Amino acid sequence: MTRKILVTSALPYANGAIHLGHLVEYIQTDIWVRFQKMRGHECWYVCADDTHGTPIMLRAEKEGITPEALIQRVHGEHFRDFSGFQVGFDNYYSTHSDETRACANDIYGKLKAAGLIETRTIEQFYDPVKQMFLPDRFIKGECPKCHAKDQYGDNCEACGAAYAPTDLIEPYSAVSGAKPELRNSEHYFFKLSDPRCESFLRKYTSRDNGVLQPEAANKMQEWLGEPGENKLTDWDISRDAPYFGFEIPGAQGKYFYVWLDAPIGYMGSFRNLCGKKGLDFDEYFKPDSQAELYHFIGKDILYFHALFWPAELAHAGYRTPTKIFAHGFLTVDGAKMSKSRGTFITAESYLNTGLNPEWLRYYYAAKLSATMEDIDLNLEDFVARVNSDLVGKYVNIASRSAGFIAKRFNGQLAPAQADLPAIRAIQEAAERIAELYEAREFGKAMREVMLLTDAANQYVDSVKPWELAKQEGKEVELHAACTNALNLFRLLTVLLKPILPAVTAKVEKFFNIAPLGWADAQTLLAAGHAINPYEHLMTRIDPKLIEKLVDANKESLAPAPEQHSQQRHAEHQQKEVQAAAAETAYCTIDDFGKVDLRIAKIVDASHVEGADKLIRLQLDIGEEKPRQVFAGIKSAYDPATLVGRLTVMVANLAPRKMKFGLSEGMVLAASDPEGKTGGLYILSPDAGAQPGMRVK
Ligand code: 2FM
Ligand code: ZN
Repeated sequence: MTRKILVTSALPYANGAIHLGHLVEYIQTDIWVRFQKMRGHECWYVCADDTHGTPIMLRAEKEGITPEALIQRVHGEHFRDFSGFQVGFDNYYSTHSDETRACANDIYGKLKAAGLIETRTIEQFYDPVKQMFLPDRFIKGECPKCHAKDQYGDNCEACGAAYAPTDLIEPYSAVSGAKPELRNSEHYFFKLSDPRCESFLRKYTSRDNGVLQPEAANKMQEWLGEPGENKLTDWDISRDAPYFGFEIPGAQGKYFYVWLDAPIGYMGSFRNLCGKKGLDFDEYFKPDSQAELYHFIGKDILYFHALFWPAELAHAGYRTPTKIFAHGFLTVDGAKMSKSRGTFITAESYLNTGLNPEWLRYYYAAKLSATMEDIDLNLEDFVARVNSDLVGKYVNIASRSAGFIAKRFNGQLAPAQADLPAIRAIQEAAERIAELYEAREFGKAMREVMLLTDAANQYVDSVKPWELAKQEGKEVELHAACTNALNLFRLLTVLLKPILPAVTAKVEKFFNIAPLGWADAQTLLAAGHAINPYEHLMTRIDPKLIEKLVDANKESLAPAPEQHSQQRHAEHQQKEVQAAAAETAYCTIDDFGKVDLRIAKIVDASHVEGADKLIRLQLDIGEEKPRQVFAGIKSAYDPATLVGRLTVMVANLAPRKMKFGLSEGMVLAASDPEGKTGGLYILSPDAGAQPGMRVK
């Protein structure tokens, strides 16, 4: 049976770059969509930029351009990055579109008619200089709990406390610096606390209903509370002008909050696609639709997708999502992505460094499961696994046999041996692997595929084409061996196609065949089939490229706005979600105080084998044991001349695991940013300073 399937990934905000954290979701979704298409289903993958809200408005203002110009530029950048990673949307649109506006107005009108919209006057901070109401993230002040200065209006980054902006001590506007005033304003609310919403959501989000992963369903039950407890609060869906978004019909100066029109943007993008392809929108969105609707999202935005969005749809007369697939966050080398460590890696920098996007697609696939667990990109493991699995095992099968077919057999294949155990094994496993793809258990699927790849290599090792080629009178055996190897390679390519679309396209060209579908795992190439000359399919990862990538993403000591879209907490989800931290030009004394600078004595310095730039230092800062630090100063210093010197180190930098060992801090060095002098100069204190003294 051909299924009709509509799939979405979360809409990225239109004011930030796509990074490797985002790509976990887009790659996961794209693999699933490509798999569905290979199975012959009608599957549409839509997405868009999430273009509205205060951060985007302010960002455009800061750049001196209109929000429209900003979102247009970012749309181009996002589309370029996604295409670079082979994310094959059927439509990549914008929430700032006629279709999304029409859908938002329609849903709002229907909810209003159902008595589910209410207005209420609320008190909110207002910036008298900027003349605007301030979202929580744009109010800063002293934490009421730990008294850390310059904390955001919704939670403290120093002690983790969550609070209301009105709890802040000496609040100030992060936009203008002015003291905000509390002012009244009329807001529009979606009545989630209405008994109709509650009873619908209890059923919809229950474990038995199967829309949510079990752990997500449990979370929802927590948010819903016990029956009768009525824990759901109404949702504030309006914002006051000035705001970049859609004005609410019949409510001058009031705009739909960005999170109202963001999921509606899925509909808007699909409606736009329907126009282009002549599809029937209603067939996908009518209440009794037989089409399937799936949303891939990060676990941090479950609240919006599992509660607000289905409740809106159900009460506006539309179908609700078939399933919501939430995934975990990405860590790099076991830690949160970090700008100072160079692990907050943008998609653009990955591509510009010359890394192959399919290396990352494969690595993510190998790590992904159907759960909401975080996944780790371990950079060393990334190099090792891709080089071993994709190049050493998979591509190796073709590269060891293709040349003989071209040179010795005029590019033509012999009959394949259908009962070869390695061939049979793949054909028998194909359906099992399909089930794993369907269930988003890509990691398990890849383990199976690699076992089959090992078996294929064992076959090649056992027949040794390179030896047969040297022996006289072994033409038939050589022809059969290479033909079998290439058939094995083709079958494995079917199983890897959702993950490696570009390599697969090259393989299809090499084999001179039509695009592979899943059913092709049950067929073999006919005797006499002519293939094209083999061209190299994939190179190994040079670890130097990874160093280059990390260096390209490294930012200096400036406290980085490491808050990004995948790291919002559930507690804050009903609040304005910050997309771009309001940036201030100054570093406060408290920011500076976070850096623990110490006088350090270099007690040992040595070359690091295999590293062009690094010197291994042992630094005494008055602790029991010296600290090991890898410093990129080899171009300027001979290790022997460093021993015994005093210098300054950052003692509280998070330890970083490097290929050569753990680096437990950083030494400071001056350099000419333009590199004109080419020099590097480490710091020395005046005479009298002792190891361990704090530098303030
Ligand atoms: O969290 C985010 O990055 C939001 N821009 C996601 C929106 S998803 C959907 F609702 F549009
Ligand atoms: Zn605090």
